[in-house]
Amino acid sequence: MYKENLNIESVVEEPLGLFPNDVGIKPFLKWAGGKTQLLSHLHKYAPIAFNKYIEPFIGGGAMFFSLNAENSIISDSNEELVITYQQIQSNVDQVISHLRTFRNEEEFYYEIRQLNPIDLELSFRAARLIYLNKTCFNGLYRVNKKGHFNVPYGKGNGNFLHEEVLQNANEFLQNTIIQLGDYLTVLNQRAEPGDFVFLDPPYYPVGKHSDFKRYTKEFFYHEDQVRLKEEFDRLVNLGCYVLLTNSDHEVILDLYSEYEIKIIETKRMISSNAKTRTGKDIIVIGHND
Ligand SMILES: C[S@@+](CC[C@H](N)C(=O)[O-])C[C@H]1O[C@@H](n2cnc3c(N)ncnc32)[C@H](O)[C@@H]1O
Repeated sequence: MYKENLNIESVVEEPLGLFPNDVGIKPFLKWAGGKTQLLSHLHKYAPIAFNKYIEPFIGGGAMFFSLNAENSIISDSNEELVITYQQIQSNVDQVISHLRTFRNEEEFYYEIRQLNPIDLELSFRAARLIYLNKTCFNGLYRVNKKGHFNVPYGKGNGNFLHEEVLQNANEFLQNTIIQLGDYLTVLNQRAEPGDFVFLDPPYYPVGKHSDFKRYTKEFFYHEDQVRLKEEFDRLVNLGCYVLLTNSDHEVILDLYSEYEIKIIETKRMISSNAKTRTGKDIIVIGHND
């Protein structure tokens, strides 16, 4: 059993599923564990003023795009994902012109999927990831032991090329540092007092169908959650304002029991036949004042 936590508050609300109207920048990828539904809550607990914004498990970047911070650092350990952000930042026209030659057909999907990314030119590599993300089953990112993307074709997916979304993202990314790496390395290098750090790690798995650990070929184990908590403490002591999301699991509630925790009900979009299944996310809030 987890320790009793007087700081836990449960918030039950219909998910909005919408971005704030006045921002209008959309993520260009649909990433497992995307935070779109939690945005209104995350904004509520975000600091009003901060130096720079750091998001070291960027995934689809829903919070990053909605926050519109002046000065940001985003990173991830998934090389394909980071190359894609970098190419959207510096080479968006080339990425778009590759995507224009692609077709949403099953046979073509498997041709693109079987290409080895390291043999490809970087803008083609980014186009490949965007295409696979938009046309694969449920927008999942999953690789086998050798690191090869192995999600099947998703029948019924529509358009995979949204030029305006990509061009907007290109503009938005101009003042952003985009880095490949483990979150600990990035935070050790970059975090300073006054920064706002948003941590959205692979969630602690809940239930037997949970697939949230399989983002990269390196899994996120129990020990990783414990190390992440130590890093959370370090950041708070350093003087950062830290928000963390995770699953509503007693291991996580126990780990963060000294902090303020909000429990939020959301609809799970990731599993195949359960678009209306509800789940719970938690938001942990850490700051020194
Ligand atoms: C839950 S997803 C992030 C979802 C994202 N914030 C969004 O709103 O769509 C977790 C991300 O962490 C990345 N990741 C997993 N282990 C990591 C590590 N040790 N260091 C950095 N990134 C890691 C995965 O590649 C994945 O993109």
